[in-house]
Amino acid sequence: MRRNTKDAELRERAAQVIPGGMYGHMSTAMMPEGYPQYFAQAEGTRITDVDGNVYIDFMCAYGPNLLGYRHPDVMAAVQRQQALSDTVTGPGEPMVQLAEAMVDMVSHADWAMFCKNGGDATTMALMIARARQGKRKVLVAHKAYHGAVPWNTPRPGGVLPEDRAHLIYYDYNDPQALEDAAKQAGDDLAGIFAAPFRHDTFADQELPDAEYARAARAVADQHDALLIVDDVRAGLRIARDCSWETLGVRPDLSAWGKVLGNGQPISALMGNDKAREAAQKIFVTGSFWYSAVPMAAAVETLRIVRETDYLEHLQRIGTMFREGLLEQGRTLGLPIKSTGPATMPMVLFDDDPDFRFGYAFCQAAMERGVYLSPYHNMFINAAMTEDDIRRTLDATGAALEHVKKNRASIEPPAALAKMAALVAEH
Ligand SMILES: Cc1ncc(COP(=O)(O)O)c(C=O)c1O
Repeated sequence: MRRNTKDAELRERAAQVIPGGMYGHMSTAMMPEGYPQYFAQAEGTRITDVDGNVYIDFMCAYGPNLLGYRHPDVMAAVQRQQALSDTVTGPGEPMVQLAEAMVDMVSHADWAMFCKNGGDATTMALMIARARQGKRKVLVAHKAYHGAVPWNTPRPGGVLPEDRAHLIYYDYNDPQALEDAAKQAGDDLAGIFAAPFRHDTFADQELPDAEYARAARAVADQHDALLIVDDVRAGLRIARDCSWETLGVRPDLSAWGKVLGNGQPISALMGNDKAREAAQKIFVTGSFWYSAVPMAAAVETLRIVRETDYLEHLQRIGTMFREGLLEQGRTLGLPIKSTGPATMPMVLFDDDPDFRFGYAFCQAAMERGVYLSPYHNMFINAAMTEDDIRRTLDATGAALEHVKKNRASIEPPAALAKMAALVAEH
């Protein structure tokens, strides 16, 4: 039996001293009932909650765990750098080494700037696009997530219409919509944001057509605007390069984060020479942006990315998970869809408009030691083995049987009703 005494106690204490008890994407408020909020340990593919329950983790810290938690080579690099310096009055040698390694790896890029979170990098991209020629309009796909910053955060609290006054929204993967949006911007178009694939929450994921990617490049060129690919989520899980390199399209800027230091806090903005001067015009910084330890971790992570078959392994393992799950759904007559790249799968049920089956399925899998998400794309990490996938499929098979057996009595998820009420309050 799973225990949750310590988690419940921490939640109670948190409710006193942390607004809402928890905030942001790691709040379990939207997860199925019983998901643990607090974790004590992580190693390889496994996370252990504060009550000692162990899970095979398909969220990978919402992306950063690329090679396995506490990867020994990355941790050795962390320890070596920690013994020398971390946050001091100026950066260390790893900053230059990392910029060189990133510029070598990312075909479109001639330079790199480092920061802490993905939202820092996308906001810098926005500023550079505007600083370049003093133009204001920026195209962003409907519902695309580029960070919890006033210009993009998905909830309305504390955001003014003015924060988004110069954003124009278009439909992802629709060249005509993109052209129409650009027309609206006229001669004031500074930049176009695009994600490597459409990864909205609560929705099937959509891979881009090359035609759309080429149209984005062409529209940016016609308007002398910058094309920005937001690789914060998908970086290094699609390519050892910018993800749109697989479509034959090179952006001017690409934003990176999450995986770069395999969990150490570091993100980056990469750019080409067209954007270099504008990058020197903006003032951006942070107390921890130059810390040497995460940079040393990233240098080591990139070495592993270059020298191993981690990416092919991710694709193999992700495909095994996806095909196993779809086969289980077919066998049980429960139609499941798995969309997006196999290395970042979204799993939703067909004909589940209020997500009740997806929630019940994930809850049942979690109780059997597999941590999945019912509304967000998941992440495969390179420490996962075929044996991990077999164990996972044992749990998901039992979870699907549970859904099938209890189909008639499964209620819509309470968490979603609560969340809808919260958003409606604004
Ligand atoms: C595509 C994308 N862009 C930007 C961000 C923001 O990154 P961060 O949460 O590190 O600020 C995220 C985070 O999930 C993301 O998925």
